[in-house]
Formats: sequence, C-alpha cells, structure tokens
Amino acid sequence: MTTKIISGIEFSRLPSSYIRDESERPRLCEVDVSDNIPVIDLSCPDRTLVIQQIGQACREYGFFQVINHGVSKESVDKIIEMAHEFFNLPVEEKMKLYSDDPSKTMRLSSSFNVKKETVHNWRDYLRLHCYPLDKYMPEWPTVPSSFKEIVSSYCSQVRELGLRLEEAISESLGLERECVKKILGEREQGQHMALNYYPACPEPELTYGLPAHTDPNALTILLQDLQVAGLQILKDGNWLAVKPRADALVINIGDQIQAVSNGKYKSVWHRAVVNARAPRLSVASFLVPSDTAPIRAPEALASGGERNVYREFTYAEYYKTFWSRDLDQKHCLEFFKN
Ligand code: OGA
Ligand code: NI
Repeated sequence: MTTKIISGIEFSRLPSSYIRDESERPRLCEVDVSDNIPVIDLSCPDRTLVIQQIGQACREYGFFQVINHGVSKESVDKIIEMAHEFFNLPVEEKMKLYSDDPSKTMRLSSSFNVKKETVHNWRDYLRLHCYPLDKYMPEWPTVPSSFKEIVSSYCSQVRELGLRLEEAISESLGLERECVKKILGEREQGQHMALNYYPACPEPELTYGLPAHTDPNALTILLQDLQVAGLQILKDGNWLAVKPRADALVINIGDQIQAVSNGKYKSVWHRAVVNARAPRLSVASFLVPSDTAPIRAPEALASGGERNVYREFTYAEYYKTFWSRDLDQKHCLEFFKN
C-alpha cells in the first residue's frame, strides 16, 4: 500500500514528492518574529473601541487575535486533547475515514488536494461540515468515543463568536450591524472545520504544512497549538510568524468578506510551516456563506465612484473554483473580478 497519510509513520528523510523547488522554499530564518498581530479584548465594555480596533486590524493585517471570546477554556482544552488522541490512532483506523474527494462532507485526508497538486504538503487533516449539527453529526467519527460531544460543543460556541464578529466587522465598515451577516445567509450560513495535524518533519526547510493561501470562506477562527508555532502571515511583503497565545483565538478575513467589503478588507495570504522537533496541531473553523446566497458588496460600498470590484456569485460556484486549482496559485477572487 502506498502511504496516503503521514501521521503515525516514521520518516527519516523527506520523500521527494514533498520537496519544493529551491525558489519556493519557506526560508525560515528570514521570517519576522518581532511583531505580533493585534490582540482584541471582546469583553471590553466600549463597543465603539472594539469595532474601531477590529476595523484597523482588518485593514492593516487581515488577521487579529481575540481574548475573552466566549469559547470556554474547558472546551478549547478538550478539543486539543481529543485531536491529539485522534491523530495518534493507528493508521488503519484513520484510513477508514480517508478520502481525496473534496466534495465529501466528512473525510480524513492529507496535504491539500492530492489529486490536483504537483508537490505535497506535510499535513494530515480531518475535514467536517458542522452546521446544522443534526444533519452532519451522524457522519462524524465515533473514535475517540468523546469526539461528537466535544466537537459539537466547541462548534456551537465558535459559531456564536463568528456571528458576533461578523456584526462587528459589518459596523467597522460603516454598515448596519446585520448587513454582512445578511448577505452571507443570516443564521443559515454553513460551518466547516479542519483539524490539522502537522507531524514533526525531518526536513522542514524543504516543504510546507500548508503553502501560502487565502481562505475561500467568509471568516476563519483558528485555535493553534500552544507549544508549537507554525502559522505565518504575509504583511507588507514579508512573512510574519504568529506567536501562539494561551487565551486567544486567531481570526482572519476570508475571500467572501473581501468580496462583500468590495475589496476594502483583504483575505490575506498565510501559510503553515513545519518543524523537526514536535508535531503541531491546529483547529480551523470556517464560517461559509449559505450555498445560494448571492455574494456581492452592498450598495453603500459600491456606489458613486466605487464600482463593484467583483461580479456576483454564489459560494457553491466559488468553492468549486477553489478546489479545482492548486493552493498557492493566484488569489481565487481574481477569477471573479469585474
Ligand atoms: C487553514 C490554515 C493554519 C494553521 O487551515 O486554512 O491556514 O496554522 N491553517 O494550521
Ligand atoms: Ni488558511
């Protein structure tokens, strides 16, 4: 059997199918670690200030961290522990969930898009649809036995946070509080999750966990491993490492909010690098527009001298385009420009 997943398998050298051309390598020693992305305290009683901070972070970084975010510490600790347990299961057990078909709503896979890509990435991931819960939970893994309970509780809390953030983002754009959420499909927006596992890598300078990409969805809420860093974002042409912070979740603007904001907020390039020392885990939650909602900027952001930068589309159409390409090609929104 050719190896389809990499977690739980020993490698003394990086297999050649993971080795990037010299010009495409991460050049880890050139990454900036001096700065860090903004931290926003959501318990701050001054809502105007919070909205202003979110607006500034969206314009300058496309990324920010939130603290006092309403997702319980218990739930965060449990999902990290459970995810480690999941990826430590025997390879045969995990392979029962394996699929390289991106249209599957629950699957364990590796790299990014093994059928389309030319070079692989040092990552295994479990990808789930998580809204509505009663529709998707029946197909989730049953091992570890606590999986459904822990993941569903985490998902519900993260969803509330995401919807609150969409309101704040809407206001930070000078729009009505409900405006962005309404365009994306109200409370019927979808939600996906990726449990990402990046095994320790024998030659981390030669490959990626995830190469540079932008997220195709609306908003991403990332829980990163505390012990092991790896997320980097592109800021003013330089890669900047995001230092993990115990009480924080990392938020980033995805392509859909870039479209709805008529390009005012950018879905920023980011990547995950790997290391030789320890495996790294992250839990990415994605709010996605409902499949049929027409995605376009509201009148207020695309009137007068400001034309619509993007044509109207649906997420069903966008998602198909996203998965039909390699991850680190041009920004997927470029295909939807007017
Ligand atoms: C993603 C992502 C970064 C990370 O899943 O889209 O960018 O640190 N993950 O795992
Ligand atoms: Ni991403």
